[in-house]
Amino acid sequence: MNGHIPVLARAVLDGLRIREGGTYVDGTVGGGGHASLIAEALTGGRLIAMDRDPESVARAQARLARFPGVTLLHRNYGELAEVLRELGIGFVDGILIDAGLSSIQLDDPRRGFTFQEEGPLDMRMDTSQGLTAAQYLSHVREDELAETLRSYGDVGPARRIARAIVKRSKSGAMKTTRDLADAVSESLDFVHGMPEETRTVFQAVRIAVNEEYNWLEAGLRQALDVLAPGGRLAVIAFHSGEDRIAKRVLQDVSRTKEILWPDGRVRERLAPVVRVLTPKPVQADAEEIRFNPRAHSARLRVAERLEG
Ligand SMILES: C[S@@+](CC[C@H](N)C(=O)[O-])C[C@H]1O[C@@H](n2cnc3c(N)ncnc32)[C@H](O)[C@@H]1O
Repeated sequence: MNGHIPVLARAVLDGLRIREGGTYVDGTVGGGGHASLIAEALTGGRLIAMDRDPESVARAQARLARFPGVTLLHRNYGELAEVLRELGIGFVDGILIDAGLSSIQLDDPRRGFTFQEEGPLDMRMDTSQGLTAAQYLSHVREDELAETLRSYGDVGPARRIARAIVKRSKSGAMKTTRDLADAVSESLDFVHGMPEETRTVFQAVRIAVNEEYNWLEAGLRQALDVLAPGGRLAVIAFHSGEDRIAKRVLQDVSRTKEILWPDGRVRERLAPVVRVLTPKPVQADAEEIRFNPRAHSARLRVAERLEG
């Protein structure tokens, strides 16, 4: 099994602008790659690192043990405000959210994320709670699943594939990653070999099982609330759905908002909360992609909290 190589590492560190004695959050510690770079760059400060996947936390523990000032937690970054309250921390100087899955999770057939190898159809990031993908598919309605495939995976023949998946689930034959991949192939039986939709169907089901978009939006909004003036938020997205959320949230809080009277006159102007430092998302260069092909789809956006 391969390890996980942190993407856009230099741009993330530059974006976060690690300051001596500062308090930083890594909301997605994963394999501990970015977290160890942050911890290395940090003198006398504190790093709160978390992941909703208990296995990732255990793995990162070993990698981060040598750094002082690191607190590692099995938590969801969608509960960031609560986590910081529990730790007695008011504001922080920088937050990283590196969304999605790590290569370690993706490559491990036991986790059920990959269609390349057979494994239980689990797909939960947090293996301590919630429905597995097999359980989710056993009760989802066909029209609901079709909508999920469309909006989380841009799957074209969504209705056709959803019908095949639901039919198979009802017959009790939806237990492994192979079962899900077979349902996609059966529904597109005119395609030779594995249909390209298999990848996007897996992506869409995974996003739904983990409610990834809800947590991403909640996490970003809370991150902006807990940043000290001058503090930085760095968010890395790996597909268009994630990047759309990051872009929308940052655009929303970087504009002056006008509160109107019923007759349309301006009652109050609310100043922008952040300044976006990346007019266009930062992407990996050819050399990084050659070394780490997964970096190909990464998009980094950075914002700085303004005074007030
Ligand atoms: C791309 S990996 C992070 C890799 C990490 N930056 C590194 O360098 O090793 C994403 C990680 O975020 C975790 N994750 C995804 N959504 C999460 C959430 N809402 N709360 C906490 N962790 C989450 C996943 O379990 C996964 O381990």
